[in-house]
Amino acid sequence: EKDGYDWFMRKEIFEQPRAVADSLLGRHTDAGRLQLDELRLSEEDLREIDRIIIIGCGTAGYAGLVAKYAIEHWTRIPCEVELSHEFRYRDPILTRNTLVVAISQSGETADTLMAIRHAREQRAKVLAICNTNGSTIPRESDAVIYTHAGPEIGVASTKGFLTQMVACYLLGLYLAQVRGTMYGDEIAAIVTELERVPGHVQAVLDGAEEVYALARELEAARAVLFLGRHAGFPVALEGALKLKELAYIHAEGFAAGELKHGPIALVEDRLPVFCVIPPRGRDQLHDKMVSAIQEVRARGARTLVLAENGDEDVVPYADTLLRLPRVPTLLQPLVAVVPLQLFACELATLKGHDVDQPRNLAKSVTVE
Ligand code: F6R
Repeated sequence: EKDGYDWFMRKEIFEQPRAVADSLLGRHTDAGRLQLDELRLSEEDLREIDRIIIIGCGTAGYAGLVAKYAIEHWTRIPCEVELSHEFRYRDPILTRNTLVVAISQSGETADTLMAIRHAREQRAKVLAICNTNGSTIPRESDAVIYTHAGPEIGVASTKGFLTQMVACYLLGLYLAQVRGTMYGDEIAAIVTELERVPGHVQAVLDGAEEVYALARELEAARAVLFLGRHAGFPVALEGALKLKELAYIHAEGFAAGELKHGPIALVEDRLPVFCVIPPRGRDQLHDKMVSAIQEVRARGARTLVLAENGDEDVVPYADTLLRLPRVPTLLQPLVAVVPLQLFACELATLKGHDVDQPRNLAKSVTVE
């Protein structure tokens, strides 16, 4: 059942090209027009939405953070992201034109379930993004987009995360299509980029040995930091979460712009710092991240840099350089998180931990 892998988690990491492809399957026509047949919300309902609130916990919440960058950019609908348990107990302002997007791999997370019940009582529309057919959260929602990751057995979410992001991108593009905030050919071009992602993820997986070598070098690390900006920020948070939950190492993800507001004080000699570098482009994101690597390195950090193929700007500042395929900035999390998953899985294995069943954790958290 583990197909020769030592852990379900490792198997599931390697299933990601397939999981992403399956989650895209049948969701657009040859002409690039999106169709989300199971959605159950009319185009008219979707045109009336004036605010989106994405909720989830843990990794699902990080998928929501990634989604915010894409959905706001593509649809111009104000979009917030919140942890389900924080959302539920703060008396949020909701109307019938609020779309609450609840992300949950299991569909049974109690914090998220209570939050959607509350949202529906306030007449908000609730759309679930879920991997488990017929589970409670999609059953209690107005609409659903199922991810097609297949069963996720390892406690740490991997293919669940990638497919949650894919579903969010599809939702964003679909809203843009319905509301006319993007041209059809722009949407089709992004769909084409999404269809290339399985191949890109496979290319990252083909380089797993390099990541494993890095894990061997860092086996004794007591703390690890992760830096990113924009869509790379949630990737940093997710990289840190994986390391905490699997390797039991103190790990933190930061928005790189925040460094000088405090976290840089943590940097000391040989501290490993992963840096997620956005693709080179017209905006300043890439250059800002290059300065961040320089800043931490000048203070003695050991820099572990994730940057796209052909990015030579980072070479002088990278103690270790892990290459990523070239993808648009908003889609980069789909490829950038994969080396971080491999790293956490391998480091936990080296430490002799139970990767599939980390201490104190359960696969679905059915109590609030
Ligand atoms: C982390 C992890 C958890 C879950 C969270 C939400 O690897 O697996 O943080 O992402 O408990 O679970 P779901 O998506 O089932 O609601």
